[in-house]
Amino acid sequence: MSSEKVRKLFLRFFEERGHKVALSYSLIPDDPSVLLTTAGMQQFKRYFTGELDPLKDFGSKNTVSIQKCFRTSDIDEVGDESHLTFFEMLGHFSFGEYFKKETIEWTFELLTKTFGINPERISATVFEGDTDVPFDKESFGEWSKLLPKERIGKGSRAAGNFWGPAGIEGPCGACNEVYVDGVEVATLVFMEYYCHSDRKLKQLVQKGVDVGWGFERLVAILQGTRNVFEIDLLQPIVSKIRERVPQLNEKNQRIFTDHIRAGVFLAADGLRPSNKEAGYILRRHLRRLLAYQIKYDVHSDIFPTVVKIITEKYKSFYPELKKEKEILKVFEDERFRFQKTLCQGILEIERCHSRNEKIDAQKAFYLYETFGLHFELIKELAPKNLIEDLKKEDFDKEFEKHQEISKAGAEKKFGGHGLILDTGELKAGNPEELKKVTRLHTATHLLHQALRDVLGDSARQMGSDVNAERTRFDFTFPRKLTPEEIKKIENIINQKISEDLPVSFKELPKEEAEKTGALHFFKLKYPEQVKIYFIGDSFETAYSREFCGGPHVTHTGEIGEFKIIKEEAVAAGVRRIRAASFMLK
Ligand code: SER
Repeated sequence: MSSEKVRKLFLRFFEERGHKVALSYSLIPDDPSVLLTTAGMQQFKRYFTGELDPLKDFGSKNTVSIQKCFRTSDIDEVGDESHLTFFEMLGHFSFGEYFKKETIEWTFELLTKTFGINPERISATVFEGDTDVPFDKESFGEWSKLLPKERIGKGSRAAGNFWGPAGIEGPCGACNEVYVDGVEVATLVFMEYYCHSDRKLKQLVQKGVDVGWGFERLVAILQGTRNVFEIDLLQPIVSKIRERVPQLNEKNQRIFTDHIRAGVFLAADGLRPSNKEAGYILRRHLRRLLAYQIKYDVHSDIFPTVVKIITEKYKSFYPELKKEKEILKVFEDERFRFQKTLCQGILEIERCHSRNEKIDAQKAFYLYETFGLHFELIKELAPKNLIEDLKKEDFDKEFEKHQEISKAGAEKKFGGHGLILDTGELKAGNPEELKKVTRLHTATHLLHQALRDVLGDSARQMGSDVNAERTRFDFTFPRKLTPEEIKKIENIINQKISEDLPVSFKELPKEEAEKTGALHFFKLKYPEQVKIYFIGDSFETAYSREFCGGPHVTHTGEIGEFKIIKEEAVAAGVRRIRAASFMLK
């Protein structure tokens, strides 16, 4: 089914059920509490609260839309099979008319009848309840009429079953998440509260519905690709990039695709690159593209060529993309500005020369990152005696290391500060963050062991990334985890935390260390002498033993309550968990 058809069927389905089509709102919202539009509900905030009258503005209490959205929260995931910074959201909304029953029935009907998805591929989760908001019995009851009980899960706030507010304050409520083959496709939010900036909830004057579907993900499922970059809308972009820059690996081709498409849409809505706020987000996207262009010596006509493919694909639905000249000028102006910083890079090389300072891989990467000087250019420009020891492999290693600029890292940069801890895996910008990262780092070791306890030894670490807000852990496993498994894992970890076990380490030669059976990340090369961190009273009886350089807390009790926030697929056979810890007051 073509993406065009999906758009049409979705809009028609809700039009036939009393919804009025609302045009996509700009990516640059008129709302100081957010930088960019992140959800379909953004333009409707004041209809949910009752401040504005939908009947007057739309002629109906229900609307349907396809909204342009941009989220930086997933930026370090872009490059896998399903994450994007810019994406479209199919949404339908009700401001005080229908509620849970209709929403759930329509969701099911749309998936199974309109889109022809076998009901056996569908599962859903509902809010389990907490001290402020009760268990969503009604949703559970409605889903029970459609799905067998084992495919209806109960999830917490941390697991994503409570949505909002968008920004510091606004409407919010319990939500259902709907999955096809374990991939999340829709969020059904039942707006019942207004969350104030002090996090206090107040009942809304009317109940509302806010449903959002990830358009590209849904299309991927309907086109049987499982990969958003292979759907009919994105595939021609990726293929052109692949043709023009064959040296780019697949992950970077996807990043290029995501960033150029996002750049086109942001520029079309009037955003311009700058050093602050939303403008900085656009600048980072464009400079990443320019860095690829320079690094791989690609003719700058790649920008007009790819921009044209994008505008052609989208302009019938988004007429603002007809301003192709204006969009291209944004790209061109940024290219010239970036070139100026390149000249500054050349001056920096001259400074090195006058101080007779060697250019090693780290310095070369600095020149690349700060001034956009790619490796070959440095080799060409720098005096021979400064670059005798500079090797391409070492530079590439530095490059790879910095590829995944974490969200935390990006935010630090945003504020103009450096990081005080950056091991590649762990990143902290100040002592306060360092404490949180250390706690989450120890929690990550517990998670690794608990995953193996519950899922077996086939769950092996593939990568991890820890910042002050969350730990992100990738591991091999062939399917989605069940809500029961997630609970079990959380419980084991919280049990180990409540036992307040000591955390210590022991240093051993690598070969001996390997014999102990301690966990290690097989992709990494370890030095001859390694540290094994262990959690428990002694090395022999420890719950977790893992090769690691630290830092860790001294006792598990310092971690606080551990919560799994999300579990999802990142690639075939690889799952990703995001988790956080909360200090008890
Ligand atoms: N507001 C919800 C979301 O963004 C549903 O539209 O996922």
